[in-house]
Amino acid sequence: MSTAPSSTAPPRLPSRSQRSGSAKTSPVRDLLALTERPEVISFAGGLPAPELFDVEGIRAAFDAALDSPGVLQYSTSEGDPKLREEVARRYTADGLPTTASDLIITTGSQQALGLISTTLLDPGDTILVEEPCYLAALQTFALAGARVVGVPYVGDDLDLEALERLAVEHHPKFFYTVPTFQNPTGRTHDLEARRAIAAIAQRRGFRIVEDEPYRQLRYSGDALPSLAELAPDHVIGLGSFSKVIAPGLRIGWIRTTADIHSSVTIAKQAADLHTSTIDQAAAAHYLVSGRGEPALARILAAYAARRDAMLQALPSTLPDGSTWNRPDGGMFVWARLPEGMDATSSLASALTRDVAFVPGSSFFSGRPDARTLRLSFTTYSPARIREGLSRLGATWGAGR
Ligand SMILES: Cc1ncc(COP(=O)(O)O)c(C=O)c1O
Repeated sequence: MSTAPSSTAPPRLPSRSQRSGSAKTSPVRDLLALTERPEVISFAGGLPAPELFDVEGIRAAFDAALDSPGVLQYSTSEGDPKLREEVARRYTADGLPTTASDLIITTGSQQALGLISTTLLDPGDTILVEEPCYLAALQTFALAGARVVGVPYVGDDLDLEALERLAVEHHPKFFYTVPTFQNPTGRTHDLEARRAIAAIAQRRGFRIVEDEPYRQLRYSGDALPSLAELAPDHVIGLGSFSKVIAPGLRIGWIRTTADIHSSVTIAKQAADLHTSTIDQAAAAHYLVSGRGEPALARILAAYAARRDAMLQALPSTLPDGSTWNRPDGGMFVWARLPEGMDATSSLASALTRDVAFVPGSSFFSGRPDARTLRLSFTTYSPARIREGLSRLGATWGAGR
């Protein structure tokens, strides 16, 4: 056979997958580059306050973990048994009976979203999400090839009639919800809505993926039952220590239903064999050390004061005719500018005054609401929040 050089161009390399092109880039990550200058006050990121990390307690937990060399070895895909027991104990104390065998530890709850998608979705399958929705969940679902349909809100309440209608129309594999202090809106489904969502899932035969990273960040109001309590066979629960201990630990988990437990475990094995053994062991030591409760109490007190500082300053910050909510917890306030205004163009002028927020548009799976914006209140002291909001107010002529 001749191997003479050919004069034709070499064949083009195969293109990337259609799925990889369907996920949007995160504006929060893009904005981080613009807001890195120390003079910028950024309400854009959903960052926990680093000065509230219990560094001493976490250092002691890593020291204790390293007493056993086994923590540097490969381990089981389901995760550290002690850590799973501690997480299960906390669920049970919170009113949701759980055993360690119901749990799979993941590398942050972000990985849990990917594992659930791998386990449940084939390309072209439909899922329902809240509209607007956590952006990195939308990215994960797009990469899984899902057809994503948004369930709208009426004011601050999920449109339950729309949920049922869309379920009948689309036969979704699951409904993804962040029921408590949602990202991006800070909204919480009340008890009546939770009962209705659980009943619709049971009636129409779809699963619920209940993502709860903010559940423990409650500053006012009473705790509500989780959806998993209301529809135990239909709900897959996701949890995380990112917002209550530290995101750098990358410890999350899935509370699976029995029918998918072994499939999720295989997906986890294929993804990364297991979450870092040393991080898991340190997290387990930290939980039993008793240091987590006072550290969380400090976080709750500080965030409550920061939320209040933001809520007090918003009337003199946002233009007349704006609306915003008053979340009982979490990290975010969701605001809407008056008719005719656009949050993305407002951001451009805000950045010239060294202050930032995230326009709401990118959190929508369908037609975006260009008037919306997300403000995070957890990163700065109340004084710095007031300073940032006063700069932001100047963007709109001091709100007038
Ligand atoms: C709703 C929601 N789910 C999941 C995550 C991912 O959290 P992690 O992977 O740090 O546990 C976040 C992070 O902001 C989030 O807001």
